[in-house]
Amino acid sequence: MQSTSWVPLFPDQASTFAWQVDYFYFYLILVSVSFAIPIVVAIFFFAIKYREKEKFETPEEIHGSMVLETTWSIIPFVISMTIFLGGAYLYFQQYRPPADTMEIYVVGKQWMWKFQHGTGQREINELHVPAGRNIKLMMTTEDVLHDVFIPAFRTKADVVPGRYTTLWFNATTPGKYHLYCAEYCGLNHSGMGGWVYVMPQNEFDDWLAGGGSNQTPVELGKDLFTNKLGCASCHAGGQNQRGAKLEGLFGTDVKLTTGQVVKADEEYIRNSILNPSGQIVEGYQPIMPTFKGQVTEEQLVGLVAYIKSLGSPNAATSTTAAPTTNAAAPSANTKPAATPAAPASNQPAPKKK
Ligand code: CUA
Repeated sequence: MQSTSWVPLFPDQASTFAWQVDYFYFYLILVSVSFAIPIVVAIFFFAIKYREKEKFETPEEIHGSMVLETTWSIIPFVISMTIFLGGAYLYFQQYRPPADTMEIYVVGKQWMWKFQHGTGQREINELHVPAGRNIKLMMTTEDVLHDVFIPAFRTKADVVPGRYTTLWFNATTPGKYHLYCAEYCGLNHSGMGGWVYVMPQNEFDDWLAGGGSNQTPVELGKDLFTNKLGCASCHAGGQNQRGAKLEGLFGTDVKLTTGQVVKADEEYIRNSILNPSGQIVEGYQPIMPTFKGQVTEEQLVGLVAYIKSLGSPNAATSTTAAPTTNAAAPSANTKPAATPAAPASNQPAPKKK
């Protein structure tokens, strides 16, 4: 699907920060114009006024002016600080998602956008969102660098191979808005776009309900975890657990064997699946195999969603029980494992008896 219709010079303001970006943009234009015009005028004026009137004329000497030089240093300094502060304010607002967001997973691919909602609904090159809700896109790509750009929301962000990036917005006005890829990504880059449909909450709920029975990301992840990839054989808990418990992991601080403390976020879980030996949790051995090349980006999204669903320490209190240790487990099976995850503080590694 290609979106070929014209983009207006100034697209609709359809997100909560669209007007702020516009004000800032016009402020930048105003500053630029109010310097550029006087400078050009002065160039012509002085060129004429101080032109050489007679051959080999000796110009008058100038000894400088403290007042003048101080003035033309302080005024531009103040102006550039307003630009810095305005830009920093907008940046912090746009790239730090609030806590109460609805998450949608995005996978870029030459040359299409794949979206998946928390309920399992999938879309390609179209994204339906409710108006007035904070929406967070969790984004990655299967191949090269892409960039999600929604002009009407005045927001964009790179989608980077091998990592998760996020973008958030709150769409204010129901309607249909352009979606683009804003990073040259190969032959059909210009065709890599589509539409964002902003709907009133009740219409969105109807739309979401009409999507048939898709597997949700959490269900997909659970299936991979317990069946297809066999993660559960080390991470499921109980007396045979060699890997760290993952319940209650998400959002905690994890201490690594290097002494470094990292936060168990989406990126950390992803890295632990693809490159387990890169981040060995304190108390464990590097025995977990890598799953690089065995899982697609969408399956990774599912696994991350599943591990997130196992709860964070503030959400779940019943999941932190230690594995029972009274049964003598076969010693061959009780080596501490390299694991993607163990909050070292409250979940000691299962010790060999
Ligand atoms: Cu994807 Cu340009």
